Amino acid sequence: MNKVNTELSKENPEAHDLSGLETVGIPFTDTAKMSMRDVNVFYADKQAIFDVSLDIGQNEVLAMIGPSGCGKSTFLRCLNRMNDTIDICSVQGSLKLEGQDIYDPKLDVVPLRARVGMVFQKPNPFPKSIYDNVAYGPRIHGLVNRRTDLDEIVETSLQKAGLWKEVRDRLHSPGTGLSGGQQQRLCIARTIAVSPEVILMDEPCSALDPIATAKIEELIAELSENFTIAIVTHSMQQAARVSHRTAYFHLGKLVEVNETEKVFTNPDHKLTEAYITGRFG
Ligand SMILES: Nc1ncnc2c1ncn2[C@@H]1O[C@H](COP(=O)(O)OP(=O)(O)O)[C@@H](O)[C@H]1O
Ligand SMILES: [Mg+2]
Repeated sequence: MNKVNTELSKENPEAHDLSGLETVGIPFTDTAKMSMRDVNVFYADKQAIFDVSLDIGQNEVLAMIGPSGCGKSTFLRCLNRMNDTIDICSVQGSLKLEGQDIYDPKLDVVPLRARVGMVFQKPNPFPKSIYDNVAYGPRIHGLVNRRTDLDEIVETSLQKAGLWKEVRDRLHSPGTGLSGGQQQRLCIARTIAVSPEVILMDEPCSALDPIATAKIEELIAELSENFTIAIVTHSMQQAARVSHRTAYFHLGKLVEVNETEKVFTNPDHKLTEAYITGRFG
């Protein structure tokens, strides 16, 4: 098939009328760690998220999928107020962490971002040693007084991130000298070191090879025993492997949220079906 035909065979996601769209499936849970209601997000006067309501359950792994530009990163960044760093971005609606309004003007975002940590697409270790990368958060948040306590946090965080055995003999070498997959696990260790409750991951494996990806996916399953995780992924296979529920976004709207297995075998919405069968993406 030539290129023109391939493109013609793809549907245009913008061609679907989404006015009056209601999210289908099970967006809410009885064990919500975070609860978002009627969230709208704008970049200047351009709306990027439309009336999204969704819970993330305690110890759940929630995957967020959808075509490029549908608002996954924007919505994820609302959950620890990372959008505050973008001047033209404004967030409306109710967003709660254990019932507490995270957009309360009196709330300090620094401890919020320790409670709701974030791992980015490209591993971004600080230009510091492996040890200092992991010790950074506990130091600035004043979590430890004694050096031995800090040593222990660094070791347990690296262990939980599945990196300890590989770096125990080189803790004082630069974090940037590690392989890409190791750097991403170092960033996960740095996030874990401040004992977050929720970990947000925005396409954490997209810069990694398949072996490094498999390690991170294994790690996500282990981490969900202690943390609540929301992960954006462009890989449907990854969403299917790591998550309990999957949320499908389309042009800034939340189309469907369901048990992951259902989303990938018998979705409730025709747009979800079109995406998972590759008709757009
Ligand atoms: N910093 C920004 N400034 C202006 N518009 C943005 C910014 N970030 C994202 N957008 C716009 O918001 C929409 C959603 O983008 P994004 O959340 O990055 O989608 P996704 O992560 O699903 O690819 C897109 O139309 C994008 O162009
Ligand atoms: Mg994105």
